[in-house]
Amino acid sequence: MKKTTQLYEGKAKKVFLTESGDLVIQEFKDDATAFNNKKKGSIADKGIVNNAISCKLFTLLEEHGIRTHLVEKLSEREMLCRFLDIIKVEVVVRNIAAGSLVKRYGFAEGTVLQQPIVEFYLKDDDLDDPLMNESHAVALGVATLDELAVLKSRAEAINAVLKTFFAEKKLKLVDFKLEFGRHHNEILLGDEISPDTCRFWDLDTNEKMDKDRFRFDLGGVEDAYSEVQRRVLEID
Ligand code: TMP
Ligand code: ASP
Repeated sequence: MKKTTQLYEGKAKKVFLTESGDLVIQEFKDDATAFNNKKKGSIADKGIVNNAISCKLFTLLEEHGIRTHLVEKLSEREMLCRFLDIIKVEVVVRNIAAGSLVKRYGFAEGTVLQQPIVEFYLKDDDLDDPLMNESHAVALGVATLDELAVLKSRAEAINAVLKTFFAEKKLKLVDFKLEFGRHHNEILLGDEISPDTCRFWDLDTNEKMDKDRFRFDLGGVEDAYSEVQRRVLEID
């Protein structure tokens, strides 16, 4: 499948149209941003690692009956995907308190939540992706109540699959962000699932093994990403 015109360039990926009107190619970049573009940098080979991890996790989810936009991994940095009408809602699932949950509500970092928290954020960089509830989303016209219910239950199902998978890899799935899109009357999981969009802590040491190493200048960013890739893909 050949790329035609570039549809979009985001902070971590480019999306290209293809000769097939129904398929796009996601190309993963090494560029890294944090705090809505206030911090900029690059993580060597991140695009390769995130593409590999995302393809593996989308395949795993498909095996569990959860539909995603993945068609196939095309190359080191390219994923062939179904074209989605992206829903402008970022769905965050949290198992352990960290990040903005700690800041906003005063949880101690590391508190294991009694049940997962699902949050909706408006996908709008100009507004800094504000937290919103269902009424906001409906009023803004970004999704219907029925769609939001699907996003929530889909996110919970994805969490159940991923939590078990990562536990086997000796990683705690602390929290993560998902994006969904509409495709021929279906809602499919889109975007990526990677150390850019998840928090992973080592099961034994609680060491942070995700983008927080970049956000907070903890060092060892590349090593953490490739260790997650090694565990996810079981590379020796
Ligand atoms: P938060 O604690 O900063 O709200 O982040 C929750 C999770 O969502 C964390 O795993 C990182 C991920 N995330 C993104 O993928 N993109 C974003 O723009 C933000 C703010 C968070
Ligand atoms: N990806 C977002 C940004 O570029 C936020 C983050 O992941 O911290 O700013």
